[in-house]
Amino acid sequence: MMNIKQYHLDNGIVAIEPEHVSAGDGFDAIIKQNKSTIMTILKQQGVVLLRNFAIKNAQNFNKAIIESLNFENIETVNKFYKLHNFRNKMIDKSLGLNRLDNRKFAKYTTHTLGKDNEYIQGPHVEYGMINNRPRYISMYCERTSKGAADTGIYNLHKAYESLNEAEKKIYNHAWNSYGYYFKLSNRISKFIAYLFLYKKWPPFKLFSKNDAFPPIIFPKTPMVCLHPENQSPCLQPFPFYNSTDAAVYQASVETFINRHQGEFLAPDTLKVDSNWLLVDKNNKPIEWTETDKIHFFKKIFETAIIHTWQENDILIIDNVMFGHGRMENQGGQVRNMHQLLLNKVDMKNYAFDLNTKR
Ligand SMILES: [Fe+2]
Repeated sequence: MMNIKQYHLDNGIVAIEPEHVSAGDGFDAIIKQNKSTIMTILKQQGVVLLRNFAIKNAQNFNKAIIESLNFENIETVNKFYKLHNFRNKMIDKSLGLNRLDNRKFAKYTTHTLGKDNEYIQGPHVEYGMINNRPRYISMYCERTSKGAADTGIYNLHKAYESLNEAEKKIYNHAWNSYGYYFKLSNRISKFIAYLFLYKKWPPFKLFSKNDAFPPIIFPKTPMVCLHPENQSPCLQPFPFYNSTDAAVYQASVETFINRHQGEFLAPDTLKVDSNWLLVDKNNKPIEWTETDKIHFFKKIFETAIIHTWQENDILIIDNVMFGHGRMENQGGQVRNMHQLLLNKVDMKNYAFDLNTKR
């Protein structure tokens, strides 16, 4: 097509922008016309950047992604989004939860991402704690932060391939089991969880007599998935639990030696006690030492593509092939980022453990 140009950023990300900046005003038409180019880059690279389009707010962002590129928005919060935010706040308060990233729904069903912080966030696939998760995500920068707050994008296939054969063998058949211990009595916690979370979350198991597991535990998710289109194995991390915080921090310090590390304040973890265990397909725990965990996160961090945001940037990311995470912000200025969760997929169907004999 004639009205866009395509180039590589220094970090390797392929960017698309309007050929004439003034033409960026008709962003929705230009994006629509070039849909196949954009989707081809996304399929081949796993990441694509739309830059310098006149995307001025969350509503424009929504229009570009949902209407012009025909993605399906998997969250269906409508004009009652304020009510929804209120409800989430109440759940959090009653359970003592610190919802990830303090995200809120803004108009047009985009999420407003939480505040940046001093430390480097753990690399994760979005909604990695559940099997039904977005196949793609899109992030939009409405306002940049002067203190950097870049985004790290991690190639989860490359990270997998960098493991040795013995490590691969363990992770190939490992499942992530995410559990929560609430501060209230188990009975009250379970009651609240059932009441408020049951429809939003998948059915979760509640253990009461088995001390080996936390009282509330989500259905396990595969640690390694085969990419739905190219079948390459990809790690699927979601490190927002007490049991992985220290390892994420240590791995980030060892990997990003030239970046400011901030202070380790148990990043982004839910305020409740929580842990991430590895189990086999029969729910038998698999040993995962602190050294193993640090090594695991380093392998992921080492694949980092660092994206420095410009205002109006939109990134679309393959949420199986690539993990992501916020980098540190030294200044503490507020940025304004939005996110869309796109095209639901059940990653259980792509579990390495269920799809290959290796
Ligand atoms: Fe995220």
